[in-house]
Amino acid sequence: MTATRRMRILGIETSCDDTGAAVVDDGRLLSHVVASQEIHAEYGGVVPEYASRAHITLLPRVLKQALDEAKTRVESLDGVAATLGPGLVGSLLVGIEFAKGLSMARGIPFIGVNHVEAHLLSAGLEQDLPYPFLGMVASGGHTEIYHVPAPGAAHRLGSTRDDAAGEAFDKVGKLLGLAYPGGPHVDRLARQGNARAIDFPVARLGGETLDVSMSGLKTAVKLLIEREARPMPDSRRCDIAASAERAIVTALIERLSLALDRHSARALTVAGGCACNTLLREEAARLATSRGIPALFPTPALCRDNGAMIAYAGWIALRNGATTPMTATAIPNLDSFGRG
Ligand code: KG4
Ligand code: ZN
Repeated sequence: MTATRRMRILGIETSCDDTGAAVVDDGRLLSHVVASQEIHAEYGGVVPEYASRAHITLLPRVLKQALDEAKTRVESLDGVAATLGPGLVGSLLVGIEFAKGLSMARGIPFIGVNHVEAHLLSAGLEQDLPYPFLGMVASGGHTEIYHVPAPGAAHRLGSTRDDAAGEAFDKVGKLLGLAYPGGPHVDRLARQGNARAIDFPVARLGGETLDVSMSGLKTAVKLLIEREARPMPDSRRCDIAASAERAIVTALIERLSLALDRHSARALTVAGGCACNTLLREEAARLATSRGIPALFPTPALCRDNGAMIAYAGWIALRNGATTPMTATAIPNLDSFGRG
């Protein structure tokens, strides 16, 4: 089936600790609602059992709000998309089974979506995405660079060898005594600090690889902080945050620059939670300008985990004629993109 008529898709995202639902009509966003689960903050990380239980409680409410804000009803939907993976198995299952239930009840297609692919395409929700483009997904679980020649096709060029960029931000935040997740707090402190105060190692791997490595930075920050005077003055914390941020962002921008040397692209996109980072946005915009192409970022609320990107990726898949069988289930380490 290759549909050409307008399609209204519901997207459900429950891969980690955000419960998201959104309605996308013909690729344009009508509504999106995300309930972030507060419970994990006191544990300094996501507790999988609590996350699945919270999704069960939150999902019906989030869905109702998304439908109300879109001024639509379940009866008007043409398909239901949900994250198939990667993610936490229990959390994924809640969203998948919920979506399948709706799809069966309404007799409309179910579309299982790859969470990373959804981040990758998410800039297209708010602006036209020119193909081919070069995209980076930098989040708490992923740091990957892709060349995307056409909707529904993507080639991975590089990824992290160890920690994801968001994980690196969060670990730096934890070492600085900041609340979880640390990324936004490191960003805030970094704006008041001197990014040249400390020369942290930039994750340069030998050779021509487009992979990055973040683990050396975490160790360097840890060793530095252990040697610092206590209590650490606020200005010093800001300098550490700014210098660590510079090391992370430099590693990412260098790889994007190499990727642009090798692949033709009509735009550069950065998505995932770390695309909220002030310095990363500035540097990616500067890089794109130097290559004469636009830098496209989703608005911050759509950089983080959300149902809108799932609905959008589901819409692209359905437009290409792809649906997912009801026998499909959660794939915690899902690594393949594409149709079906
Ligand atoms: O995409 P996302 O919401 O969830 C995952 O799929 O992981 O990304 C969350 C990650 C966290 O590690 C968080 O600290 C990071 O994105 N993050 C940031 C900023 N905002 C969120 N990192 C750096 N600077 C920010 N402003
Ligand atoms: Zn994500």
